[in-house]
Amino acid sequence: MKLAHFDHALFLRDYWQKRPLLIRNPWDQWNNPLDPDELAGLACEEGVESRLIVREGERLALETGPLPEERFGQLAGATATLLVQAVDHHVPQVAALIEPFRFVPDWRIDDVMVSYAVDGGGVGPHFDQYDVFLIQGLGRRRWSVGPVCDADTPLLPHDDLRLIADFTATEEWVLEPGDILYVPPRYAHDGVAVSDDCMTYSIGFRAPSLAELVEGWGEHQADALPDDLRYTDPDLTAQAHPGEISPHALDRLHRLVQASLGDRSAFARWFGAYASQPKYPEIDWRPDEPLAQAEVCARLAEGVGLSRNPASRFAFIRRPDEAVVLFVDGEAIDCAGHRAMFAELICGGLEAQLSPALAVAPDVVDLVTLLVNNGSLAFTEAE
Ligand code: SIN
Ligand code: CO
Repeated sequence: MKLAHFDHALFLRDYWQKRPLLIRNPWDQWNNPLDPDELAGLACEEGVESRLIVREGERLALETGPLPEERFGQLAGATATLLVQAVDHHVPQVAALIEPFRFVPDWRIDDVMVSYAVDGGGVGPHFDQYDVFLIQGLGRRRWSVGPVCDADTPLLPHDDLRLIADFTATEEWVLEPGDILYVPPRYAHDGVAVSDDCMTYSIGFRAPSLAELVEGWGEHQADALPDDLRYTDPDLTAQAHPGEISPHALDRLHRLVQASLGDRSAFARWFGAYASQPKYPEIDWRPDEPLAQAEVCARLAEGVGLSRNPASRFAFIRRPDEAVVLFVDGEAIDCAGHRAMFAELICGGLEAQLSPALAVAPDVVDLVTLLVNNGSLAFTEAE
């Protein structure tokens, strides 16, 4: 499915991270990619993150999955909503929903959450720290949006849910199948199903907080520093007050820290590895027996394609010398020549078909062997 009637350049200029936008069915042809029953099935599986929210009078009660199958039978007449995280990791048709949104770089994309609600169901008014595209899949949902919230926004007292206390929306729309609502970070929003069988697909993004960047990068640099690299002052002169930490000492301390934390190329390498860490490493594609290099070589020579583990994260950075650093699931891999071409190809999408020249290049075969054996790639099964 393609976003046939959507100008992403205009969207990025006027709306992305700025204000909400309702996009009325922009698809060439919208097809709901997942049945409610299949979603319920996923919520019962071990290793799939799911939540069930049931309205009990004025209150919303939260249950976390995996849910026992019989739980759904007990819900007759209840106002309930089911939310399943990272459905794209389990259902290729849902993973395909991300493709039209890749005008935003992969490292900013988190996953696709899918919700199901009966008439009147919803998760309540709240705000998120991330951008989201809310695609109405099936049924209808009324979305109320705005204003922008922050840490001081009053919340209802609730142990499990962060619900806004006095929610007054500034805009409201009813979404039909195929309609999309874009909501920027921290905009209050509340979606209430206005039909049964209401399914919404949330293409969720992520953005590192400054706190996690400073902590992660600082810790990474600290780990590599020897204990004997420390503050020195062979030029020390007596100062007027022994209790003062002098500006001269502070300048020198600050320069020391900046020299280490300001290393741009080391930062790039750290960040690529950090940002490519998988969120669900338990979705494990490692083969029972590691594949031998000769076997990988033979399959590539036969022209068998490669599939990425949908839970794996791939990204790359370019270096000034035409080489690239490929990041896969938290590992940095230096790539030049054929390998660099392979790195860009494999970062292009979930499926890759190697050219004959790449398929026989020994350094590419090496790398494919590594990535297949660590579960990030697999040979594409014949249909
Ligand atoms: C939903 O799909 O019901 C909730 C999605 C959201 O508010 O982020
Ligand atoms: Co939300």
